Amino acid sequence: MTVLDVAAIKADFPILSTTVRGGQPLVYLDSGATSQKPVVVLDAERDFYEHANAAVHRGAHALAEAATDAFEDARRTIANFNGARSQDLIFTKNATESLNLAAYAFSNATALAQFEPHSANPQFVLKPGDSIVVTEMEHHANLVPWQEVCRKTGATLRWIPLTDEGRLDLTNIDSIIDKTTKAVSVVHQSNILGTLNPVRHLMELAHAVNAVGIIDACQSIPHMPVRLDELGADLVAWSGHKMLGPTGIGCLWGTESILNAMPPFLTGGSMIEMVAMEKSTFASPPAKFEAGTPMAAQAVGLAAAVRYLENIGMDAVAAHEDALTQYTLDALNSLDGVRIIGPTDSNDRGSAISFVVEGLHPHDVGQVLDSTGVAVRVGHHCAWPTCRRFGVPSTTRISPYIYNDFADLDKAVLGIQAAQDFFGVNA
Ligand code: ALA
Repeated sequence: MTVLDVAAIKADFPILSTTVRGGQPLVYLDSGATSQKPVVVLDAERDFYEHANAAVHRGAHALAEAATDAFEDARRTIANFNGARSQDLIFTKNATESLNLAAYAFSNATALAQFEPHSANPQFVLKPGDSIVVTEMEHHANLVPWQEVCRKTGATLRWIPLTDEGRLDLTNIDSIIDKTTKAVSVVHQSNILGTLNPVRHLMELAHAVNAVGIIDACQSIPHMPVRLDELGADLVAWSGHKMLGPTGIGCLWGTESILNAMPPFLTGGSMIEMVAMEKSTFASPPAKFEAGTPMAAQAVGLAAAVRYLENIGMDAVAAHEDALTQYTLDALNSLDGVRIIGPTDSNDRGSAISFVVEGLHPHDVGQVLDSTGVAVRVGHHCAWPTCRRFGVPSTTRISPYIYNDFADLDKAVLGIQAAQDFFGVNA
């Protein structure tokens, strides 16, 4: 028995009743990449376009008012879901953009400091000798932007290494986060290993040296109760599409003081206070970070997703996923020739489970699973250095969600065995 009524939940997701590959019922186990959408999310977007579509925060006509109300209601719903204030929640196009927004605060402030030293907040100004700290299990979205910041400013990128079990190795943390450190940006739950990191502790270490603390919560917020104010971060990034919402919307939450201190990222309409030909001043957050016509329908869709999750209850979501995780780990641990990349037990880990099958390329495993209707992700999962750390070119990853049950995982395990049989690699 799982905690949730999965049959009833599945019925809310039209795509889950489709068949693939010549009539195989779809078993979707790739929610770490993107989640499927319940009908209430599809309806909310359609309803917005049918009854309220207009550019928000512009114009005084009836539709403009309706669109603005719907957009700001959505912001309140989404912020409230994570115990936050709506004025501290910025909408972006995805979590990658949210993390770039944070990274660009540093490179923009550093550039500004050369010509307008008094306008640049020293908290974000970098110079050679400063350091930025990430981990060896970051998604590329929380690695490459920081590499670029370092290239542009002369700062040094440091990273917290991993243990063989796939956890952060904090043995030498005092020499990684030190008085040179200006930002610590770490993933809450790894998209490839599933590891849940001690982010609160890392944020405390960041603040002890006056560094900005940033968390990538893409794989945690959809799957467990997360109160943003309890993480201890200055900035937290996540995406809408991994939590049943539409693509095209991401979130960045920040404390009031950090959002006031950060320079803007994209500039243009909507983010201004005053514009003259010579110069402009900027609006208060969140508008300061939301240049251009925003993604109103997507925000409304994400709010519907949040209400759907609230209705189930995030404690129940987490308990359900814990059960699925334990079940999958037990099944994979008992298969000969299968090696889990990441923690092999369910303590402090989420439901994304990567593995390699001895003698088989992950793409071959994925292809056999796909031929049976089972969708998993294969590849480096946008965490290439993590694969390198474990000496594998890529992995196969199972990442279930609220609409999966034990039968779905049984089908995946049968598919792995079928791949071993087909390629003649069974031990
Ligand atoms: N970040 C997404 C994943 O892990 C795309 O698959």
